[in-house]
Amino acid sequence: MLNALHEIETEGLAQLASASDADAIESWRVAYLGTKGRLRAVMPMMKDVPAEQKGEVGKRLNTVKKALESAFEARKGELGAAGGAASSGPALDLTEPGEVESRHVGRRHIISRVRGELVEVFARMGFDVAQGPELEDDEHNFVKLNIPDAHPARDPIDNFYVDNPLTAELPRMLRSQTSTVQIRTMEDAVAEGWGPPLKIVSPGRVYRPDTVDATHSFMFHQLEGLWIDRGVSMADLKTTLLQFARAYFGDDAEVRLRPSFFPFTEPSAEFDMKIALKPGQPADWVELGGCGMVDPNVLEACGIDPEVWTGFAFGFGIERIAMGKYAIPDIRMLFDNDLRFLAQL
Ligand code: DAH
Repeated sequence: MLNALHEIETEGLAQLASASDADAIESWRVAYLGTKGRLRAVMPMMKDVPAEQKGEVGKRLNTVKKALESAFEARKGELGAAGGAASSGPALDLTEPGEVESRHVGRRHIISRVRGELVEVFARMGFDVAQGPELEDDEHNFVKLNIPDAHPARDPIDNFYVDNPLTAELPRMLRSQTSTVQIRTMEDAVAEGWGPPLKIVSPGRVYRPDTVDATHSFMFHQLEGLWIDRGVSMADLKTTLLQFARAYFGDDAEVRLRPSFFPFTEPSAEFDMKIALKPGQPADWVELGGCGMVDPNVLEACGIDPEVWTGFAFGFGIERIAMGKYAIPDIRMLFDNDLRFLAQL
């Protein structure tokens, strides 16, 4: 496996250096870093690596991946700056009129923008972004999250099942929470040997058959967070949430945790932030989401030793933050796609 990685690294870097335009580096990216790329193709070899070498090989896999990724970014930057070797003219047409009629250009949807801003704040604190499928199985949505069969959240009436949960062996469903990505990330980290430690946030859509009203929708977005390392504590959780609140809502933001219960964390808490939602408004407590220390059963279900590793997790609704920050009174406004509304944001 080490030989294979060495070959991928040297060939990859050499080929990238000779890629001379945007199309070429994009095909290079797909060939090396894509989901069907060369790096992904060697990952299954990991299971044949003897246990005592897994750590070393895993690290090597990670450094090769990082090396290829940063070489790709650098090459992209170079080609961008040069205007691309393929395009001979200037990158900027100086004869274009100076004023763009911006109202015709369009903009990113407010949810996409807030999602990007949230991820960026956590990225500055060292969180990577992880992603998981929206079509999940109930193993990842419930079982490995320590949510027992009899738990009310598992009632078929309260979920969008795609397979019959009573008869299918691994019933699929639209995920009802992004906590699924905690499980997938831990499983991947263990199987591929690159973690723990791991530190991720995961934004994405979730689905629940709720009756639509001003604050409920059958689809909405969550941001999940997970940090597993040696000695991670509740103090780290609170500090991280506080840093996030200050970075995103301003220096006067405060955080408070209230005892709660989630099957996948112990202890569990709801977290509130005291934030001024509109400029000039006094700050007040707003409930944002759930959090806690990852339950040892969850770590064990993913093959992580809870005697060695601890961690925290949190999850909150992105619409809720967007509605608070931009004083949007009704969640439906976010999905109606009425341009008279969207154009104001
Ligand atoms: N998944 C929970 C929900 O959708 C939110 C949540 C609570 C996420 C606690 C967490 C957590 O990661 O630790 O209601």
